[in-house]
Amino acid sequence: MQYEKNDHICSISDLIALEESRQNLQLSFIASENYAPQAVRSALGSLLGNKYAEGYPKKRYYAGCNIVDSIEECTIKSCKKLFDPHDLMHANVQPHSGSGANMAAYMAFAEPGSRILGMHMFSGGHLTHGNKASFSSSVYQALTYKVDYATGFMDYAEIERLAQSYRPKIIMAGASAYSRKINFERLAEIALQTNAIFIADIAHVAGLIVAGLYPNPVGYADCVTGTTQKTLRGPRGGFILCKKEFAQKIDRAVMPGIQGGPFMNVIAAKGICFDSAATQEFKEYQKQVLHNAQIMTQRFKELGYTIVSGGTDTHLFIIDLRPQKIDGKAAEEKLEHIGIITSRSTIPDDYEKPFTGSGIRLGTAAITTRKISPEALLNIVDGIDACLKNGPTEYLKNLIEKIASQFPIPD
Ligand SMILES: Cc1ncc(COP(=O)(O)O)c(C=O)c1O
Repeated sequence: MQYEKNDHICSISDLIALEESRQNLQLSFIASENYAPQAVRSALGSLLGNKYAEGYPKKRYYAGCNIVDSIEECTIKSCKKLFDPHDLMHANVQPHSGSGANMAAYMAFAEPGSRILGMHMFSGGHLTHGNKASFSSSVYQALTYKVDYATGFMDYAEIERLAQSYRPKIIMAGASAYSRKINFERLAEIALQTNAIFIADIAHVAGLIVAGLYPNPVGYADCVTGTTQKTLRGPRGGFILCKKEFAQKIDRAVMPGIQGGPFMNVIAAKGICFDSAATQEFKEYQKQVLHNAQIMTQRFKELGYTIVSGGTDTHLFIIDLRPQKIDGKAAEEKLEHIGIITSRSTIPDDYEKPFTGSGIRLGTAAITTRKISPEALLNIVDGIDACLKNGPTEYLKNLIEKIASQFPIPD
């Protein structure tokens, strides 16, 4: 099996076959990726993709929606069962992506030009949390809060101070590259004091939440946004939960606010993903995801690496590579040569731009789906260390390919 691309391959089906080999022979440590099971991929490829169903169940703008109505209703029910067993919230499973879910949530609660407060990207916040390159900053007046540089942890007193002086309409919490538990209760108190709407973005940690391994913002937040493709191990897509009083605002913001017809194939795949996340097997998987993150961070620390905030409570962690005198982009590229797929990352007090970054972010959701053993994981960390110190070698590439073939992507 090989996955090297060459100029003679230009048919999409051949390229898909190559990508399949690449995914099998390389190891993904990208914190936002996972290997979705066959049942999810079948739903994505099903003829549900043919169906137009603008609107919501029983309120569609097209005929022929009886069956897709039931699919969407089942998916909503499964989503609520997972995150909201006490039936406090309304769920919308139509957002095409996590960014779209955030866009709709902002639109539901804030007029263009309103103030929002979110986490700075260098501290781990997502682009949509107020970064200047995103709509969240061009449509709204965004102010960002940072983690405490000394500890790498969120500084709630500082968030409170900023909320009191800036008086944002929305306080956004949740992150792409923050590895610690978030105190949603404290943030809800700050939002209440300052008369702000509190949105929690659980895109990354949704799988950990349903397994009871990470705080659930339901019950504290006015609105919760998330994605299904990361720790939840489902299709690429978003979802929103909101307090029932905001149901209409959210539904209208998603459609017709920012979207047209829902992707019914993706909604079906989300339903399959939610149902599988409700199983004991999924809980055991999430425990292993956390355990593997602990194995890796421990080993990196023994090898002298600096982990931002000193460790992790989640599936992801960020290595500050400044002591190694290598930037994130260079590290990412070296590792790719040996089949270790990571993503460069900024670190809280970074002087590099996001395109370069001073760190790399690693996550264990995908590798745990491959049922990697602890021994193999330690060998991988040692391989990463050797590659970063001495550069990629044929020996290391072969080692990673061997490990990848011992732990194939399950169906
Ligand atoms: C915290 C957070 N929110 C939202 C998103 C956006 O998700 P998507 O890529 O589906 O738009 C991401 C993506 O990584 C994320 O990390």
